[in-house]
Amino acid sequence: MKPKIFITRKIPKRIVTQIEEVCEVEMWEEEDTPIPREVLEKKVEDIEGLFCLLTESIDEELLNKAKKLKIVSNMAVGYNNIDVGAAKERGITVTNTPGVLTETTADLTFALLMATSRRIVEASDYLRDGKWETWSPMQLTGQDVYGATLGIIGMGRIGQSVAKRAKGFDMNILYYNQSRKTEIEDRLGVRYVEMDQLLQESDFVVIMTPYTPETENLIAKRELAFMKESAILINTARGGIVDEEALYHALKNNEIWAAGLDVFETEPISQENPLLTLPNVVTVPHIGSASIKTRLKMAELAAENLINGVTDKKPAHVVV
Ligand code: GLV
Repeated sequence: MKPKIFITRKIPKRIVTQIEEVCEVEMWEEEDTPIPREVLEKKVEDIEGLFCLLTESIDEELLNKAKKLKIVSNMAVGYNNIDVGAAKERGITVTNTPGVLTETTADLTFALLMATSRRIVEASDYLRDGKWETWSPMQLTGQDVYGATLGIIGMGRIGQSVAKRAKGFDMNILYYNQSRKTEIEDRLGVRYVEMDQLLQESDFVVIMTPYTPETENLIAKRELAFMKESAILINTARGGIVDEEALYHALKNNEIWAAGLDVFETEPISQENPLLTLPNVVTVPHIGSASIKTRLKMAELAAENLINGVTDKKPAHVVV
């Protein structure tokens, strides 16, 4: 008998077919609506494998219902949506999809950096709103990227790929990481500094660290106060790493210059969120890894991890 698995969102047919060769598959068929919690709670009772997204909270309560579950395969590199400690205690493997999304996420990070510094969205709206009546010397002027100082908080795979892009813009690159990575410093031309120094000296502060209890609100009022008035904050990691209320006040009061945000404390972001009222904020809806090629690779990798997990082989990307 094939092991039963459940997929929490509609994924491409080709990948479902690949899983069906080994498993009995059931899938939540909606593309844009997350599976209701009560449906997921019922589904997990009877399955050996779960293919899920970062929109599902795989917590202890859910895992308690999953008596036969062997593997939770998350289609994301981040896994803060999963209680990995509770999974480990129950002998459930958790996997993620690192590597395949590194360059795509670094691209989006750089896109936000460019868009905020040169006020691309604001300028586009200005034109479309019929406000462009003349060219003038200081109209819609922004900050330079070329030659500026970039501070990367979290020098993992994506942080390193952002540094490579920054080299092409002759940026002076600082980084802070929980542990110093001397082996990459010469190769990437980056310099290790303590966090406060990074905040004080950088023209762009880019957050690239995982979201853990230690990094929750890592950037709050105190840290924002260290940043230059002309500095720009970019977050393509997880919303909870930045205290959004403190960020709003810093941006509103021009204590920092702009922010480029792909991620938010609560997703989807409420339309009432005051950040959306600020012209110096560029917001996109968590699309860091959203290229067609990369999303397909992530789904394939999550499928491979899942198949290995339910057939008692070691998946390539085990978190616990
Ligand atoms: C996306 O945010 C991911 O963690 O893959």
